[in-house]
Amino acid sequence: MNTYHNLLIEQKDQIGIITINRPKQLNALNKQTIDELHNAFTNLNKEKAVRVIIITGSGSKAFVAGADIKEFMHFNAEQGKELATTGQAILFDLVENLETPVIAAINGFALGGGLELALASHIRIASDKAKMGLPEVSLGVIPGYGGTQRLAQIIGKGRAMDLILSASMIDAQKALSYGLVTQVVPPEMLMETAYKKAQKLMRNSPQAQALAIKAVNAAYTKTGFEVEKELFGQAFTTADFEEGTKAFIERRTPEFKGI
Ligand code: CAA
Repeated sequence: MNTYHNLLIEQKDQIGIITINRPKQLNALNKQTIDELHNAFTNLNKEKAVRVIIITGSGSKAFVAGADIKEFMHFNAEQGKELATTGQAILFDLVENLETPVIAAINGFALGGGLELALASHIRIASDKAKMGLPEVSLGVIPGYGGTQRLAQIIGKGRAMDLILSASMIDAQKALSYGLVTQVVPPEMLMETAYKKAQKLMRNSPQAQALAIKAVNAAYTKTGFEVEKELFGQAFTTADFEEGTKAFIERRTPEFKGI
């Protein structure tokens, strides 16, 4: 029996619900949460009784506000690359390639690693209060959990470049118009809507769904993800990275010198 410190797990009507539960840190993904998510997804995927998994965040403010900046701000290039490599392997690639369909119910901020977790999920539904973006370059780093690849795959290179380079957040309606999410509902309807979608998926063959996930994913090569890991690590060698993460903690605008 697994004990989770940062997750709540429910199992109801053949639906597994994982709630990331670090609301004071806006559900930021620290190492422990990533390890726990790995275990939770792996275990629920093994359960024959679980046909669909819903992932969401606790509280009304955030789905996940990103990787935990406080945890990695003093990392060097090697540790940065290792963070991206391990995270991608044990969580983001795992979710994308899971046989059991995964629905991300985006209840609030989905930023950086948070949006990347939603992007790795098979279906995304958002509350109309949700805000999404990859703000990493405002910290002097780049998305490292597959965001440079999956965002472009899902919304197209032009929109992805705009969002990534401007570090902008978009609201749920814009995300819907981009095809980043497929449904937007009022916050109080979010879990019910995700639940109904899960029940709809459950009418179909689980074997065929697992094969379909594999077939859809087969279109995308892994080369870009390798480049992303390398460049994520490279960003950790810059003075801009030190300044960007320090400015976040000090709640001020960073002064980037481009070095
Ligand atoms: N990591 C660590 N802590 C975080 C966090 C993060 N990603 N996001 C929020 N928090 C913490 C804040 O530091 C704050 O903690 P304290 O109360 O101890 O100071 C708490 O959560 C509440 O956050 P705020 O006070 O900042 O809340 P706000 O309403 O003023 O702002 C926000 C909300 C706009 C989401 C803001 O918190 C924010 O910009 N967060 C960071 C978003 C971000 O840059 N994400 C990308 C992370 S890097 C990444 O994900 C790399 C990767 O791809 C691998």
